[in-house]
Amino acid sequence: MGVIRIKDRAGRDHEVEAVEGWRIMEIIREHGFEVEGLCGGACACATCHVEVCETWSDKLHPAREDEEAMLDELPLIHPGSRLSCQIIYTPELDGLAVRLVNGA
Ligand code: FES
Repeated sequence: MGVIRIKDRAGRDHEVEAVEGWRIMEIIREHGFEVEGLCGGACACATCHVEVCETWSDKLHPAREDEEAMLDELPLIHPGSRLSCQIIYTPELDGLAVRLVNGA
């Protein structure tokens, strides 16, 4: 079992346990942080939007076309913007740092 790091909307840092095979969106929600994930991970709502820390962006698989399309519909995106339901936790992502964004 590894961890991911979450910066909440107030700027506070948290380190939480992560489970292999779970979506980052599920891990964030499991620990009580506010990420809606309305479509349940079907890449159809973008309410699971997070910003991935710059040092981790290159270590993730690139966003697929459908994820890019959903991100394009958001009013504000960041260089590390991703849909957290589209990132599956693996041991290689131990320590992954994400920031919860306002208006996700
Ligand atoms: S939960 Fe809907 S796009 Fe991620």
